[in-house]
Amino acid sequence: MQVQTPSPTTAHWPSNAPTAATQQGTRVELVWPDGETRSVNTTWLRDNCVCDACRITQTGEHRYFLGQHEQIPAATAVSLDAGALLIDWSDGHSSRFAPDDFARITYVAARAHHPIKLWSDNFLPERFEYAAVVNDHATREAFMAATMRDGMSLITEMGSESGECIRFLEKIGVPIRDTPFDRLHDVYFHADGYNVAHTDEPLPPHNDFASYHWPPSGQLLHMLVNEVEGGDWVNVDGFRVLHEIQQTEPEAIDVLARVAVAFREHSDTAESWARAPLVRRNSKGEIIGIRFSNQLMQPIDPCDPDLEAFYEAYHLLARAVNDPANQIQFRGHGGTMQVLHAHRILHARRGFDGSSGSRHLQDTYFEFDDVRSLHALTTGEAR
Ligand SMILES: [Fe+2]
Ligand SMILES: [Zn+2]
Repeated sequence: MQVQTPSPTTAHWPSNAPTAATQQGTRVELVWPDGETRSVNTTWLRDNCVCDACRITQTGEHRYFLGQHEQIPAATAVSLDAGALLIDWSDGHSSRFAPDDFARITYVAARAHHPIKLWSDNFLPERFEYAAVVNDHATREAFMAATMRDGMSLITEMGSESGECIRFLEKIGVPIRDTPFDRLHDVYFHADGYNVAHTDEPLPPHNDFASYHWPPSGQLLHMLVNEVEGGDWVNVDGFRVLHEIQQTEPEAIDVLARVAVAFREHSDTAESWARAPLVRRNSKGEIIGIRFSNQLMQPIDPCDPDLEAFYEAYHLLARAVNDPANQIQFRGHGGTMQVLHAHRILHARRGFDGSSGSRHLQDTYFEFDDVRSLHALTTGEAR
């Protein structure tokens, strides 16, 4: 299932010249030779004027500022000149839009809708060799595309050097998202760890740092050594789970997107605490974030009028993330690293026998926007 596709009105703007332009109040209607029409708001046209006075030509940034006028400027004359749209404005300005100006502006307007693909029942994350991602342009592009689409990929042949996950980010040009809880988290079985990750208990599906209002949106989990019995990696596509609940119990998603819950993570030196809903949606109602951490979730006010509705919806979600049908499970061998869109993909670990050998994992964080940014620069999308 594909979601978050570009809006069709901006994705298919004609690249050839219109043959007629007429003003109808606060709209300009454009007609193309094949009969296609577009009706464009005049305020939008004034605000997006492409002339050198309305843009900072050195940087491409907006200079024209609608807030300078007491009244929104009106179009006083509209015509076509050699395929370009000419408009005179009540503020004394004149604008000229060539056909390729519209193509460029509407391309920009349609950007940032990165198509994602919800996991199928037999989903397996794509695997990319560490050296190839670092050194080969095409492999790096394929790695980023897969990670953006699926929310997860695996890097293989990483070796077992400490800090390699940070060096990976440095080599591909993605900054680390630091926290006061250690820049590089060492996860191994030890008696004085500050959270459940440092025990040999199973970890239910979660994303890290639900205790931040903006949790890290990207996470790397590098398995350095894995000699224990058990401890398989488990992942869940949180967006797929939420989409499925949306189909049958849409009101549950409304509750999860509305009721704020507190999460807390603390160590000897730092505390993070946030109160936020478990589901984040964009202005179109599309699901763009899941926050789920059984271990960090704090009690809700017992007198909260939303308590019962919340627990009903939360139970549905918790059952779904715990359902093996929604999970992939595999052994994280030494030298393998998970790359996660952490606002989408939950990670988990089966329990293991801490006395059966050593198991050492390191994780660190980044912002997923920086992967999108690198992808846009690599592919030329950032034109
Ligand atoms: Fe975790
Ligand atoms: Zn202008």
